[in-house]
Amino acid sequence: MADVNIIIDGKTLSVPAGTTVLEAARANGIRIPTLCFLKELDPRASCRMCVVEIEGARTFQHACATRVREGMVVHTDTEAVRDSRKLTLELLLSNHAVDCHHCLRIGSSRCDDLDPKFCEMCFFCDCVKDGFCELQALAREYKVDVLPFSQKHNTYPLDDSTVIVRNPNKCIKCRRCVDVCGKVQTVHNLAASGRGSELLIGPAFGRSMAESGCIGCGRCVEVCPTGAIHAMEHKDELVYYAHRDGLKTAALVDADVIPELERVLKLQPGSVTPEQIAGSLKKIGTDEIYDAAGAEKAAEAEAEALLAEKLEGQRPVILTNSFAAKAFLEKNFPERKESFVFYGSAVAQFGSALRGQADRLFAVTPVGNDASETEKTHPVDITVNPRELARIMIRTGSEPNPKRTAELKVLPVPQPGGKFGRLLEKAAWSMARDAAPERFTVGELKCVICHNLGQAREVLESGEAFDVIRVIG
Ligand code: SF4
Ligand code: SF4
Ligand code: SF4
Ligand code: FES
Repeated sequence: MADVNIIIDGKTLSVPAGTTVLEAARANGIRIPTLCFLKELDPRASCRMCVVEIEGARTFQHACATRVREGMVVHTDTEAVRDSRKLTLELLLSNHAVDCHHCLRIGSSRCDDLDPKFCEMCFFCDCVKDGFCELQALAREYKVDVLPFSQKHNTYPLDDSTVIVRNPNKCIKCRRCVDVCGKVQTVHNLAASGRGSELLIGPAFGRSMAESGCIGCGRCVEVCPTGAIHAMEHKDELVYYAHRDGLKTAALVDADVIPELERVLKLQPGSVTPEQIAGSLKKIGTDEIYDAAGAEKAAEAEAEALLAEKLEGQRPVILTNSFAAKAFLEKNFPERKESFVFYGSAVAQFGSALRGQADRLFAVTPVGNDASETEKTHPVDITVNPRELARIMIRTGSEPNPKRTAELKVLPVPQPGGKFGRLLEKAAWSMARDAAPERFTVGELKCVICHNLGQAREVLESGEAFDVIRVIG
């Protein structure tokens, strides 16, 4: 597509026709704040945080939904734009159960004089998203110190019927969760009901998550900008058991938590190592720390054995180690159950290898893994995500330190032979619902990796012939 010439904040840019103002700005290092926008999905344009001034337009325009035009002149950070964004935040927060201190001193603050460092240590005013919340970060950035409108928020009960916890009193109705559940995962478990201030985002007919069609994939948790949907937390339990004398504890550390940990602790990318995390866990009393890479190898070895056996008499084989994908496949494709092969995740391998040898098992994993294994099926006692780990570290004074490292043990488990090559290598979940599933061959085998459940549905319904279909949950 041809390029068009535009000016953003005085910078002359040449960008592909059809891109939005937001994409053009981001591609050129110009930041425009967003709340409802999700990369790779169609914009909802509902939150008004991304408003910009476009010369010749009579009103502010949404940068996320406005396409560039030849000669367009855009201003992203004028006083009027900033005032508009601040008003948006004030309105959102006046209808919000503010339980945190970091939006400076908004409404519900229960301490008279606040020191942000102290707040991070305190257990009193606690929102799971405190310190990691997009709404809070914007409230700080736009200096929303005092709310000009009277605070009136709904007092819906907390839905903690599963490990995916919903707190509608912190929902800003951005609908990111609705889109990721419906458009990416094709589960369609979440929707809006009611109107105006009574508008509620959740499962249909006011059902709890346990009663709903939720498969526990945790993708809504990943995209929610506030504390309105979050994974059940276990950080306090981990500290409690790790500290306790006479209990033997073991932890699995997945190095994939490092980028998020560095981000929330505001550390340089690449500065934290698994050995430093192990050092921190040792400091709070964990007895043994294991490397998740070894557990992943064990998962691969199990998958290899099961796959080789199944391929003797069955094509295609539909392979996954995600509890959420298992629930999705069983619910949506029950007629294909003869094709399913489920193998244990790295956490499951760790759980079965160490169960009986330690009194409490912990797993430090990215958030998706936490949410995708329900309380009943979870193979370890406590799972924490990188944000919980960061808060454990802050509260116990055990932040990553190059001078405090510990060795990570390798699980004594079978190692794979590698005969299925990249089919069983680590593969990432992806938001991109339009991106093609990854097709390739391994010897004679025609294989495909589906990076989300929407892709899995598309492949399974397409009738395209494969020998192995691997599904990432
Ligand atoms: S969701 Fe964000 S703004 Fe709301 S209480 Fe929690 S941290 Fe504060
Ligand atoms: S956990 Fe997954 S299935 Fe359940 S509501 Fe969230 S996105 Fe939908
Ligand atoms: S639950 Fe979170 S992601 Fe969903 S609409 Fe509310 S704030 Fe947005
Ligand atoms: S990010 Fe554009 S309106 Fe929400």
